[in-house]
Amino acid sequence: MKFEKEIKRRKTFAIISHPDAGKTTLTEKFLLFGGAIQTAGAVKSNKIKKHATSDFMEIERQRGISVATSVMTFEYKNYLINLLDTPGHKDFAEDTFRTLTAVDSVILVVDSVNGVEEQTRRLMEVCRMRDTPVIVFINKLDRDGKNRFDLLEEIEKELKITLHPMTWPINSGKDFKGVYNIHQNNLRLFTANTKADEDDVVALDNLQSSDLDKLIGERDANQLREDVELIEGVYGQLNDNEYLKGKIAPVFFGSAINNFGVLEMLDTFISIAPSPLCRDTNKREVCPSEEKFSGFVFKIHANLDPKHRDRIAFMRVCSGKFERNKYYHHVRIDKDVRFSNPYSFLARSKDVIEDAFPGDVIGLFDTGNFKIGDTLTEGEDFYYIGIPTFSPEIFKELINKDPMKSKQMEKGIQQLTDEGVAQLFTQFGGNRKIIGCVGELQFEVIQYRLLHEYGASCEFKPLPFYKACWLTSKEPKKLEEFLRFKQQNSGEDKDGNPIYLAQSEWFLNTEITNNPEIEFHFSSEINK
Ligand code: G4P
Repeated sequence: MKFEKEIKRRKTFAIISHPDAGKTTLTEKFLLFGGAIQTAGAVKSNKIKKHATSDFMEIERQRGISVATSVMTFEYKNYLINLLDTPGHKDFAEDTFRTLTAVDSVILVVDSVNGVEEQTRRLMEVCRMRDTPVIVFINKLDRDGKNRFDLLEEIEKELKITLHPMTWPINSGKDFKGVYNIHQNNLRLFTANTKADEDDVVALDNLQSSDLDKLIGERDANQLREDVELIEGVYGQLNDNEYLKGKIAPVFFGSAINNFGVLEMLDTFISIAPSPLCRDTNKREVCPSEEKFSGFVFKIHANLDPKHRDRIAFMRVCSGKFERNKYYHHVRIDKDVRFSNPYSFLARSKDVIEDAFPGDVIGLFDTGNFKIGDTLTEGEDFYYIGIPTFSPEIFKELINKDPMKSKQMEKGIQQLTDEGVAQLFTQFGGNRKIIGCVGELQFEVIQYRLLHEYGASCEFKPLPFYKACWLTSKEPKKLEEFLRFKQQNSGEDKDGNPIYLAQSEWFLNTEITNNPEIEFHFSSEINK
């Protein structure tokens, strides 16, 4: 198949949601439609079970399983779909944020009973930063949920995105009767566990037809007519361009567990979701159709077994064709490297691949050469930008318990932070090494891995910081002065960028007000 065609037929996306909204269930239904699995229940849940939250070894074991399902590739109607999985556990939120840099669009699952939840908000912030096109799936219509007009308003307001309903539900909970496809004028009647055959779909010439009353009853038919009139008046036709710019999100209603409303969304997804697009680098825009290969690392997964210190770097192919055993330029370390066993992730099995196209994600064995954001090219010097890192939420001082092992400790902490397990800051006053994480679990992971992989033992001392802000200023003198005065509350990140460590929101707001010539940023870019 022609190179251009290969690019066009690829759709690389992620399903995101607050835990328990139905991401795993929806993933499974997609794989069923794509023929990648044959039975329900075949997808190992990538979510970490609630009872395991205090047992990080168990969590890592599950994460180990999830490496195989990190990227699920399947074909549907001649499209090649790469579905990137994201960890549901809040403590691994940074992993999810970085995965979002490797996709071209997302499907956001919202629970119709709970509405917008904490994690949904944060994930959407990352999507907005990158103008990622979003399709919304409102799930669990088989349960009594919120009034859908209120729900749409809540989503629009909380997630700061304009919605566009593509289907409309008839009731919810035990009265749920189905969804009306506004743009195709047909009605899918609800039956639990449907295989979503075409037979369930009833075409309607128009909503005034008396057939509708027969199918769903007069009261619901009238309500549907009223709702649809209102929706059409407010929303009109979907503007695909606005969707592609990340300004408007098409919305589907359904019930993932019952396989209901999913097919409508998948069909729309393949017709409107973007194929791989051009991406920004620090030098120029690079387009997928360029002849020469380039790609970047967005995730590194370490093997917790000390006997196998290998890691897997996940690389998104951005341009050209990647080939096995060919030398590529590792821009940051200025070295040529090649890979004899790159693999793809065809639903649950790892296969060595000969080549890969833009939009694909490949797994590269790594012995410590990669860090997040690293770029490979065919010789040109550029690196992909737009890979964010966010302020951690928990800060602890790293204390070396064995001074004889400080070299090992140094190396270990450098490598672990390269992998993105945590962030490392050095405080100006006192030179303390501060580890910042999103969740407590990572501290346990770090302590365990430093000891077992590097032979260094450490402990952590909690610090009273609540946020780290990256600082910039057009007046370097002012910034210098600020950092000198605030030594106890300032330092630098791993790349030497100045940061302010705020003790509380109040302190932070005070400093922001008192120092108008300094900009406080809540996120930073890995490659600037
Ligand atoms: P997640 O990956 O977003 O965390 O969610 P997941 O798919 O695991 O779904 C969370 C729970 O919600 C599961 O129940 C799942 O069966 C249920 N669920 C998913 N879609 C629907 C739906 O359309 N309607 C209803 N009523 N429930 C739905 P669980 O009891 O937590 O897990 P399980 O024992 O069923 O696996």
